[in-house]
Amino acid sequence: MIVAIDGPAGAGKSTVARATARALGFQYLDTGAMYRAAGLADDPVAADLRLADGRVFLDGADVTEEIRTPTASERASVVAADPAVREAMVAKQRVIMSLGDWVAEGRDIGTVVAPQAEVKVFLTASPQERARRRAAELGVDVTSVLQDQTIRDERDRTRAASPLVAAEGSVELDTTGLTIDDVVARIATLAGAHA
Ligand code: DC
Repeated sequence: MIVAIDGPAGAGKSTVARATARALGFQYLDTGAMYRAAGLADDPVAADLRLADGRVFLDGADVTEEIRTPTASERASVVAADPAVREAMVAKQRVIMSLGDWVAEGRDIGTVVAPQAEVKVFLTASPQERARRRAAELGVDVTSVLQDQTIRDERDRTRAASPLVAAEGSVELDTTGLTIDDVVARIATLAGAHA
């Protein structure tokens, strides 16, 4: 089974997807980490990307921490708008998820990578709430996070290649004011209905 979790940055995708995978006993795929690592590569299309035990490797080097910097966020958003990069990432993601049960999070899992996913969730939260969460995570000022987030959101939503939209058949969940446990329970129920 595939549980696809898409939505904008800061909607809580990573936390929710990881916790849902744990609750269901599924494997977890963070596709954003792949775009982030690709953004650090000299050649994002040919880059050798590996995800293992929660670590991310680019051409053999561990870039798990480096991909979370603001610079890496910016570069990821830029390479993610390149159709050739997207094609390479989608192909890799389909191979990774070809065996077993997965919770995959990103922007285009339900629309492009795995439109056949049994469960599709579109996670949202208010822009202020999303910026507040990111700022707390990074230990930086919320105003600058909100500014950067607005620019990246706009780029992710309006790019020609796989813009961020809710997939057909997806369930929209607004996580503003909800606990992680609430959200995970909702998704687990959706998955249970397909088991
Ligand atoms: O979820 P994240 O912030 O780690 O994603 C990093 C960037 O990659 C962000 O600009 C959106 C983009 N991305 C994408 O275009 N498609 C995905 N499936 C995952 C991430």
